[in-house]
Amino acid sequence: MGVRCVAIRTCGRGKIDPGFRMAAAGVAVVALLSAALALYGPPLDAVLQRTFSLHKEPLEKDMESTLQLVRNIIPALSAEKHKGQHGRIGVVGGCQEYTGAPYFAAISALKVGADLSHVFCAREAAPVIKSYSPELIVHPVLDSPSAVEEVEKWLPRLHTLVVGPGLGRDGLLLDNVKGVLEASRARGVPVIIDADGLWLIAQQPALVQGYQKAILTPNHMEFSRLYEAVLRGPVDSSDPRGSVLKLSQALGNVTVVQKGAHDLITDGQQVLECSQEGSSRRCGGQGDLLSGALGVMVHWALLAGPDKANGSNPLLLAAMGACSLTRQCNHQAFQKHGRSTTTTDMIAEVGAAFSRLFET
Ligand SMILES: *[C@@H]1O[C@H](CO)[C@@H](O)[C@H](O)[C@H]1NC(C)=O
Ligand SMILES: *[C@@H]1O[C@H](CO)[C@@H](O)[C@H](O)[C@H]1NC(C)=O
Repeated sequence: MGVRCVAIRTCGRGKIDPGFRMAAAGVAVVALLSAALALYGPPLDAVLQRTFSLHKEPLEKDMESTLQLVRNIIPALSAEKHKGQHGRIGVVGGCQEYTGAPYFAAISALKVGADLSHVFCAREAAPVIKSYSPELIVHPVLDSPSAVEEVEKWLPRLHTLVVGPGLGRDGLLLDNVKGVLEASRARGVPVIIDADGLWLIAQQPALVQGYQKAILTPNHMEFSRLYEAVLRGPVDSSDPRGSVLKLSQALGNVTVVQKGAHDLITDGQQVLECSQEGSSRRCGGQGDLLSGALGVMVHWALLAGPDKANGSNPLLLAAMGACSLTRQCNHQAFQKHGRSTTTTDMIAEVGAAFSRLFET
């Protein structure tokens, strides 16, 4: 409608300056967008940024150069390496209700390239998780009175811990996980915290405050909860980059990966955006694939050393790698399965997606 009105008025002037016509059409497009926005809500500049490629190109270049660095930190496969060098990952989670999430996270870590994947879960969850896969090492210890010591025994042999998939909110389990987080921090073991692990952090932010080897991976809801708990005010939804930066800084520059339509990744200094194409299909469990992949990539990034990271924060590179991979898996699975895509379909794509992104 808006476009037609402008065209009629322009024609009425007789001779038309093509530049003027284009400018008028531009104004009309903006008017149309504004009208649409009045109905649908998102801030105008966000939509404009997505609409006009001028703003998009530097972002994509940004991402491509970051992906180049991600390729740098991926260790080459070699017969010389002994088992365990490519990563021994521990997943802390799994209770009576939730057994899928820790399985997805742990198997994804293996598929991405870890040598060994451990799961530390509640007693009842262990036989179920074992029955999903003979490839995982499952410890039924998380609800035991000696849970912290049982996990601590393994810490010297683990490169990273993924805390939260399928954890639930049982007070006893959360208390034990608090002890596990403290023990990991004392030993400098990197922790990736997701799902109900983030619920625990919202109650007790001091657990990660200032810990430079912690990565939080909140979705929209988890992000709001954390933000409100730490900054004692609502999220400014008109400024997603500013908000993610603020949360990271308030936690002492802990790395935050906010999952969404585009993932935002920050270490309190830089904000990266992962806009790798995924699909319109979101399925439960996708976040577990991300956290498992991140568990491996954090180990690789820290192992690679500053030269290969070319001055970038290794945790940011790991996060960009894991986010891109998860999205690529989603994209490929969706090509095959469409609406019926599930996390199992996405995990089946890890190998091909990995080659495509990182081995070209
Ligand atoms: C976090 O990073 C910001 C930006 O570089 C810096 O100003 C601040 O001092 C850092 N905070 C901590 C606790 O390191
Ligand atoms: C490494 O950093 C230098 C200096 O910031 C930059 O010019 C170069 O392009 C970077 N290399 C890669 C592969 O990103």
